[in-house]
Amino acid sequence: MRLSGKRSIITGAAKGIGRAVAQRFAAEGAMVTLVDQDADAGKETTESIRGTGGQATFIHADLTDESAVRDMVVRAREWMNGIDTLINNAGLSITNDLLDIELDDWNADLEVNLSTHFLCTRAALPVMIEGGGGTVVSMSSVNGIWAIGETGYSAAKAGLISFIQNVAVRYGESGIRANVICPGTILSKRCRDNWEGKAGSIEKLKKWYPVGRLGEPEDVASLAVFLASDESSFISGTTVTIDGGLTAGNRFFGKD
Ligand SMILES: NC(=O)c1ccc[n+]([C@@H]2O[C@H](COP(=O)([O-])OP(=O)(O)OC[C@H]3O[C@@H](n4cnc5c(N)ncnc54)[C@H](O)[C@@H]3O)[C@@H](O)[C@H]2O)c1
Repeated sequence: MRLSGKRSIITGAAKGIGRAVAQRFAAEGAMVTLVDQDADAGKETTESIRGTGGQATFIHADLTDESAVRDMVVRAREWMNGIDTLINNAGLSITNDLLDIELDDWNADLEVNLSTHFLCTRAALPVMIEGGGGTVVSMSSVNGIWAIGETGYSAAKAGLISFIQNVAVRYGESGIRANVICPGTILSKRCRDNWEGKAGSIEKLKKWYPVGRLGEPEDVASLAVFLASDESSFISGTTVTIDGGLTAGNRFFGKD
C-alpha cells in the first residue's frame, strides 16, 4: 500500500474530489480525518470508508472559522497520534465577471479558497514538523494559471501557488514538502449539476480537452496519492496541472 500509516487530514472531504481523495487514501493504508462543513455528507462518506475497512473519522467544521480550525487540528492530532499529510481541498466558486462583483462576494471567494488553506496549514505545520515532517497539498485550479472567468475564485486559486511555494521554501529544511494541484473540469456532482443545467455544455466542454473527456474525482485522487506518498519525495514547491491537456492549448477552445 502506497500510504501505509500516513496520518492524513483532508478538507472538503464530504463530497466530490475530497471524498474520492479520502476513499483512495484509506484504500492505500492511510488514516484519514475528513473535515467538512456539511455534516450529513461528511458522516456518510466516513461511514462508507469504514465500511470497506478503512480507518476514518469525521470532524464537522467551517474552515473559515480560525478557532474551529485550531480545534480541528488538535482533535485530528489526538485521534491519529500525529499528522503526516494535509490535503487542503475545501473550496467554492462565488464570483464571476469583475464588474458584477460585490466586495462581500470577492472577500468570501478569497476567504474560502485561499484563507482556509492558510489557516489549516498554519495550524497543522507545527505538529507535522514536530513529528519529523510531512506533506501539504493545496487544490488550486486551471483558473489559477490562466484567465477563464470567475475572477475572485481565479485570484484566490492563483494565490495558492505563491502560498504553497512559500511553505515549500521556508519549511523544506524541516522535512515539509508542499505542492499544488490544478485540476481542469472534474465531474464532481457540484460541477456536473452546474454544467448540465446549460444545454449541451458538457459536450461543448469536452471539445476543449485534447484527451476528449472531462476529469473524474478519481483522476485527482490518483495524483494526490502520488504527491502524498514517498514516491514523490523529490517533488516540492511545484504546481501540477491535471487537465487532459486543456492548458496546453486547443483549437476548439471557446468555440461552440
Ligand atoms: N470540480 C472541478 O471541476 C474543479 C476544478 C478545479 C478545481 N477544483 C477544486 O477542487 C476542490 C473540490 O471541488 P469539488 O468540485 O469536489 O467541490 P464540492 O463542492 O463537491 O466539494 C467541496 C467540499 O468543500 C466543502 N467546503 C466548502 N467550504 C467549506 C468551509 N468553509 N469549511 C468546510 N468545508 C467546506 C463543501 O461542503 C464540499 O463538501 C475545490 O477547491 C475546487 O475549487 C474543482
